Amino acid sequence: MKTPPVPIAVFISGRGSNFSALLDAQRRGRLRRGRITLCVSDRPQAQGLETARQAGVETLVLPDPSDGNAILRDLHARNIGLIALAGYIRLVPPEVVQAYRGRILNIHPALLPAFGGKGFYGIRVHQAVLASGTKTTGATVHIVTEEYDQGPIVLQRKVPVKPGDTPESLQARVLRTEHRIYWRAINRVLRRLG
Ligand code: GRF
Repeated sequence: MKTPPVPIAVFISGRGSNFSALLDAQRRGRLRRGRITLCVSDRPQAQGLETARQAGVETLVLPDPSDGNAILRDLHARNIGLIALAGYIRLVPPEVVQAYRGRILNIHPALLPAFGGKGFYGIRVHQAVLASGTKTTGATVHIVTEEYDQGPIVLQRKVPVKPGDTPESLQARVLRTEHRIYWRAINRVLRRLG
């Protein structure tokens, strides 16, 4: 008998291009064992919420993103089995990390552990990469633990730094790679979880 797909919640704070890429992967039948059923945001004006509405995915705006027990109630009520952070800028409360141990993923626009941790977000990551002079950066999907950007790595892909790159051009190149790896990482984790 075929097991039913694991309900997935995607957490966003803004644009949500990774969320869109996940929805696209789902439409193409690439998300093998999961189904995106919920889009959660800490910000009512997050662009990605509109994407969710258009795709017929339920949306939820958190009145208090630090209230772990309230978030857990919302997730449990919807049977959520996996959380994918996609540009979610808030800290996931410890109650949620504990309850979903090994089932929360995050995508980061660099080759962790390099250029990760507190302060490394958004364009700053790419500014730091360029300032370091490295010729290779990339994207990482990892399991979320209590420590910022430090959980076990699920999938990583390299992206070249090219001569003449600006933080913005590098960010755009890395983002395209993020879109290609996130659904693969989710498949990998769901496969492992069985
Ligand atoms: C991505 O670069 C992701 O790696 C980081 O935040 C950005 C979110 O972009 N965590 P988007 O909202 O998915 O377009």
